[in-house]
Amino acid sequence: LAGDQVLVVSNREPYIHTKTEEGGIKVQRPASGLVTAVEAVMRACSGTWIAHGAGSADRETVDKLDHVPVPPDNPSYTLRRVWLTEEEEQGYYYGFANEGMWPLCHIAHVRPVFRSSDWDQYVKVNRRFADAVIAEAKTDNPVVLVQDYHFALLPRMVREALPKATIITFWHIPWPNSESFGICPWREEILDGLLGSTILGFHTPFHRKNFLETVDRYLETRIEPEASTISYGGEMTQVEDYPISIAWPDEDPNLPDVATCRAEIRAAIGVPADHLLGIGVDRLDYTKGIVERFQAVERMLEQQPGMVGHFTFIQIAAPSRASLDEYQSFDTRVRKMVERINRRFGSGDYVPILLKAEHHGQDALQRFFRASEVCMVTSLHDGMNLVAKEFIAAREDEMGVLVLSQFTGAARELHEALIINPYHIEQGAEALYRGLVMPPVEQRERMKSMRARVKHFNVYRWAGRMLLDASRLRQRDKVMT
Ligand code: G6P
Repeated sequence: LAGDQVLVVSNREPYIHTKTEEGGIKVQRPASGLVTAVEAVMRACSGTWIAHGAGSADRETVDKLDHVPVPPDNPSYTLRRVWLTEEEEQGYYYGFANEGMWPLCHIAHVRPVFRSSDWDQYVKVNRRFADAVIAEAKTDNPVVLVQDYHFALLPRMVREALPKATIITFWHIPWPNSESFGICPWREEILDGLLGSTILGFHTPFHRKNFLETVDRYLETRIEPEASTISYGGEMTQVEDYPISIAWPDEDPNLPDVATCRAEIRAAIGVPADHLLGIGVDRLDYTKGIVERFQAVERMLEQQPGMVGHFTFIQIAAPSRASLDEYQSFDTRVRKMVERINRRFGSGDYVPILLKAEHHGQDALQRFFRASEVCMVTSLHDGMNLVAKEFIAAREDEMGVLVLSQFTGAARELHEALIINPYHIEQGAEALYRGLVMPPVEQRERMKSMRARVKHFNVYRWAGRMLLDASRLRQRDKVMT
C-alpha cells in the first residue's frame, strides 16, 4: 500500500481543542480505546483522519479546509473536522449510536432505544461523513479505514462514489447473535451499509461468526463460511477477526519507576507504604461492570476482615455520554454504592473505595497502574478492552495481577490473568483476594508471559494484518482488471 492515500473515519477525534477558563486553548486526548489504537497507526502512516469536531475551541484551530495538523507538538498527519448541528449530534451520536446500537451490541441488559428521528439523523450524518471522505480523496482508489458503529452506512455510500476504493471497516464493539441483532428496525439497512466494505473486521472469531449468521438470516447473500466471505449484489466482502492492541510504550524518562509511583500515590492518598491497592480504569459506562466490581470488593472485605483498613480500591471513571439518562442514573448508582460501602467498612481516614470520576491523562494512568497490586477489568461485555493491555504494558517490574472478565476480547489472549465471570460476585471477590496475596514468583511468571504476548501482538500488527489483507485484494483486483 506504499504511496496509497489512507483516510480514517471515526466519530471521536484524536485531539480535542477546548477553551480554558483563562481564555486560552488546551488540547485533550479522549478516553477511547479506538482512538488510542488508531492514533498510533496514523502517526506511523500519515494520511487524513476525518472526525467530529466536538471541542469548544475546535473551530478556532482549523484552516479553511477544516484541517488541523496533528499531533500538535509534532505533526505527522491531518485531522479533518466535520461539524455537526446539535440536532444531528443528538439523533446520530446520542440517540441511534449510543441509545440504540451500543446497548444492542453489548447485550448489557439495557434496553436499546430506536427512534425514527434518530435513525434519520444517523443516515444524514453518515452521508455527511461519506461526502467528507469523497472530498478528501485525491485518487479514485484510496484506502479508507472506517471505524465503529457510528458509521455502519458509510461503507456503502463511499463504495457507490468510489467503486475502486479499498474500504476496511473495523467494528470495535461486540456483534451480538442474529436473534438479538434482529430487533433493530433497520437491520437490513445496517447490514447492507456494512457490506459496502472490502474488508470487515471484528475483534474475535465469535463476533465474526455472529455477523455471518446475522447476514445469512436477514439478507439474500452467498456466504462462504470457510473463506469467510460474503457475496452480495455482485461484490464480495472479506470478514475477518483482527484483535486490536496497543502500541508497546517506549521507555519514558519522565515516568518514575514502579517504586517511586508506589510511594507517590500512597503519599497522595494518605496511606502507609504497605497499604494494598486495587485499580480500575474505565469510562463511566454501564457495560464495564463497575457495580459488580464494587460488589466483589465489598464481598472480599466481608470475607477477609484482615484486609479492612489495609486495602483501597481506586476507581478512575472518565465521565462519558453524560447527557443520556442511562448514564446519569448509572453515575448515581455507582456513587451511592461507593458511599454505602465506604460507610460500612471505612473509619477515620480509611476509605475502602476511592472514586475519581474525572478524566485522567495517559501519564497519570500509568502511575496508578504501576502503584497497584491488582487491576480489575470486569466488563459485562466488551469488544477487546485495552485497559487490560495498558496495565500489562505499564508493569515493567513484571509484577501485578490482572483480574479479567471472561466476556472481553482480551480474555482470549491473556490466559495468565485471573479470568472471572463478573456476574459471579464470589468469584470476583476470590480473584481479587488471590491477586492481593499472590506470591511474587507466580505474579512474575504470569505477567512476564502476558507482557511478551502484548508486546508482540501490538497495534501495528493489528493494522498490519488488515492492510496486508487489503493489499492482497488490491493486487488481485489489479490482475483481474
Ligand atoms: C468505545 C467505542 C468508541 C468510542 C469510545 C469512547 O470504545 O468503541 O467508538 O470512541 O467507546 O466513547 P465516546 O462515545 O466518548 O467516543
